[in-house]
Amino acid sequence: MSDGATARGSATEREQARKIAEGLEHLSGFGNEHSSEAVPGALPVGRNSPQRAPLGLYAEQLSGSAFTEPRAVNRRSWLYRIRPSAAHPAFTRTGNGALRSAPFAQTVPDPNRLRWNPLPEPAEGTDFLAGLWTLGGNGDVTRRSGMAVHLYHANASMQRVFSDADGELLIVPERGGLLLRTEFGLLHVEPGHIALIPRGVRFRVELLDETARGYVCENYGAPFRLPDLGPIGANGLANARDFRAPVAAYEDVEGPVEVVNKFCGNLWAATYDHSPLDVVAWHGNHVPYAYDLRRFNVMGTISYDHPDPSIFTVLTSPSDTPGLAGVDFVVFAPRWLVGEDTFRPPYFHRNVMSEYMGLIEGAYDAKAEGFVPGGGSLHNMMSAHGPDRETFDRASAAELRPQKVDDGLAFMFETRWPVSLTPQGARAEHLQQGYDDVWQGLERHFRPLH
Ligand SMILES: [Fe+2]
Repeated sequence: MSDGATARGSATEREQARKIAEGLEHLSGFGNEHSSEAVPGALPVGRNSPQRAPLGLYAEQLSGSAFTEPRAVNRRSWLYRIRPSAAHPAFTRTGNGALRSAPFAQTVPDPNRLRWNPLPEPAEGTDFLAGLWTLGGNGDVTRRSGMAVHLYHANASMQRVFSDADGELLIVPERGGLLLRTEFGLLHVEPGHIALIPRGVRFRVELLDETARGYVCENYGAPFRLPDLGPIGANGLANARDFRAPVAAYEDVEGPVEVVNKFCGNLWAATYDHSPLDVVAWHGNHVPYAYDLRRFNVMGTISYDHPDPSIFTVLTSPSDTPGLAGVDFVVFAPRWLVGEDTFRPPYFHRNVMSEYMGLIEGAYDAKAEGFVPGGGSLHNMMSAHGPDRETFDRASAAELRPQKVDDGLAFMFETRWPVSLTPQGARAEHLQQGYDDVWQGLERHFRPLH
């Protein structure tokens, strides 16, 4: 199908976008060789690049891995489009807004535990791209390693099209639904879902509600994949079949379209004479996804002790060292706690990995207050953290009946390198003062027997 007119911002346009979003079909599965055609016969049969592609389309490969990477991690898709991506004028530098990239060397890395309130209201007419605000990160975009933590707060649908050559974008909405129009087709996400846009894939974000707010992990490293399950077995955690990939849908739009490309840390723009979301058919495994975090199959103890939070890993970006992630995406989804003789909230902890946490809704079971939806906390490498005093006192005295934790949805970006802040992150007005105080008053209980 051609999805025709696009929604832009008025209530009517948002309603139209919502109607489209709620009627979407999708393909099922993570990492599959998917294929889809919006017009029957648009996909070549038995070859990728025939002398003349069907229906007068152009064939184009999009490589998400080196040609020669092992088959298990090789990622590429073939796109059959109205015009080849190469048909564009020169890009010129445009403003980066509040978007920043690694290396993050403008502040001294901070060993303190830090916590932020949500981003302030954006100016009228702020779209998803303009609404991106970088907290910090690590690594180096030119080395394809590390990650950045961004937040977004938008109140307008994008008119323009964006792609990120620096990494894939894991979008975690906290407020407001999104319709993502990508080269591969359309995806719908609401708070509690995630979207994963692969490196280099062009897309536009349209708002389904008056405002949209959330988090983005920009992963410069190896693409996110499902973690190995080891002794858990063949099922569990995020099940591959619950990931939604789009079906092909294209825009046949002639006329000026602004296309913004993030490349080595800067935004570059060009005005095309057509929409680049003009892919009529595609096949491959370098594709965008959406996933409902409430489908996460939570594993945990049925005997004693609080397991390490790696048991809650949704997606992992591996490094060259087995078991050591560039970044893990971890969710704290509703679950039962039944551990006997166990301190059930997350334990006190110092970690070589660095932990950025956000809250999608409700409350988190290690913090009684101050950690709010849309806000975030950073517990950098080896910083000491854990339950606040109120949580510690309550959990130490609680009667250990089976208990359902179902009043919140929190997540973590856990990364191998310390997170350095941007100057705007370090000096933000919404940076909370006195976060250390939540661990004050943890009294001495030590009583030697003699
Ligand atoms: Fe921790």
